[in-house]
Amino acid sequence: PQNVGIVAIEVYFPNYYVNQAELEAHDGVAAGKYTIGLGLNNMGFCSDREDINSLSLTVMQRLMERNNLSYDQIGRLEVGTETIVDKSKSTKTVLMQLFKDSGNSEVEGIDTTNACYGGTNALFNSINWVESNSWDGRYAVVVCGDIAIYSVGSARCTGGAGACAMLIGPDAPVVMESRLRGSHMQHVYDFYKPNMTSEYPTVDGKLSLTCYTTSVDKCYQRYKDKAATILNKKITLDTFDKFCFHSPFCKLVQKSVGRITLNDFLIDPERYIAEFPELQNLRDVKIDETYTDKNIEKTFVTVSNNSFKQKTKGSLLLAGEVGNMYTASLYGGLASLFAISSAETLAGKRIGMFSYGSGSAATLYSFRVVDDATNSKLINIINNAADIPARLESRKKVSPDDFVKTLAIREDNHSSNNYSPVGSTEDLCPGTYYLAHVDDMYRRRYERK
Ligand code: ACO
Repeated sequence: PQNVGIVAIEVYFPNYYVNQAELEAHDGVAAGKYTIGLGLNNMGFCSDREDINSLSLTVMQRLMERNNLSYDQIGRLEVGTETIVDKSKSTKTVLMQLFKDSGNSEVEGIDTTNACYGGTNALFNSINWVESNSWDGRYAVVVCGDIAIYSVGSARCTGGAGACAMLIGPDAPVVMESRLRGSHMQHVYDFYKPNMTSEYPTVDGKLSLTCYTTSVDKCYQRYKDKAATILNKKITLDTFDKFCFHSPFCKLVQKSVGRITLNDFLIDPERYIAEFPELQNLRDVKIDETYTDKNIEKTFVTVSNNSFKQKTKGSLLLAGEVGNMYTASLYGGLASLFAISSAETLAGKRIGMFSYGSGSAATLYSFRVVDDATNSKLINIINNAADIPARLESRKKVSPDDFVKTLAIREDNHSSNNYSPVGSTEDLCPGTYYLAHVDDMYRRRYERK
């Protein structure tokens, strides 16, 4: 099979949001901290009516319906998530109820978990399968999604919720450059979920930022090494027409574009000094000594500002409006890029992708969009993503007080049995799956609005 990649993509986010400026006032922090300091506008969240299984059911069914697919066309289904409601039964198997009427139960793949990286692992598994000897000629589907919520404190504003589903196959309009991957994995306790009775992570926020930035450096350097050996090609930020990043909050992504520029600068300082003479005295800095250097961070955010606007800003639509969707964050970035682009502006372009999951696992890889702007699959992807802004606009705004109350209900009932959720089904969008009941055997039953 040739040109394996993304054939279609769908995104689902909850219908509730809280405004970040209102949250600043509610939390008693300085005005501007969440909105300007972290670059966040609104944050999506769900009531106890939604869990990882319902989010996944909703987005998968949406992918199938909006692309006129039948369930017997799918030979592999992989789920990436860190929102665990069952230590044994996978979300993948829950999704198999959607396949029932088709009679197709021969579907490989299962869940993978490592913080925000699971979606990327699921994607790589699916791409590898289609490219391999064990491929049976059918499509693969990747579902990734999470409910990102934090206990009271400085991390709470960096939550979010949502899911993406991607159809993977040959002759795709968005082709993965499978041989070009740079990864960095290590053992670190920056963000983890050791408390099985809580949905909330244990977070060392500052450490997580250093780990993220170190991973940007390492993955970028390794991607460049691969390109040098495999393609005999020298890589710079300009090799990428667009660049999506895992987005815990938008400001970190802007800083990461600056970080890639710092990497480029240290290899070819002259190119930058001509335009920014103040960089002259930074040409000998040791990159490993700059992780907490605010001056360097600010300088390279300024130097890379135009690149950020051209290549990355548009991909932050969902990150700014919904927040961190964990495994779905990077793919929500890709969907955002499709939502704000035309086929003409993307045809023939290379899209850089940086995935980071705490703990930690990270990869930088890339897609190549087909050259032909009249490619019907590319147009279909663009058209399907076009409703994202309107869907964001039509969500229901909730006050910070009610947001906190909603989280308290989730906290109290997180692992309950004999439980019927109390959240409204009225407020859900048509087509949304929701949790109807958890019975005495902890079996979860879902209905669709
Ligand atoms: N106006 C404008 N900016 C302000 C204001 C203000 N009034 N007040 C503060 N700021 C700025 C700060 O200067 C800072 O920006 P800078 O770093 O560019 O200088 C920014 O707002 C945030 O302020 P901090 O004091 O650094 O924030 P705090 O330490 O309280 O929390 C953090 C931030 C660590 C990101 C926290 O939200 C967190 O732990 N989040 C979860 C962890 C996370 O998302 N990690 C990312 C990778 S791992 C993952 O994806 C889960």
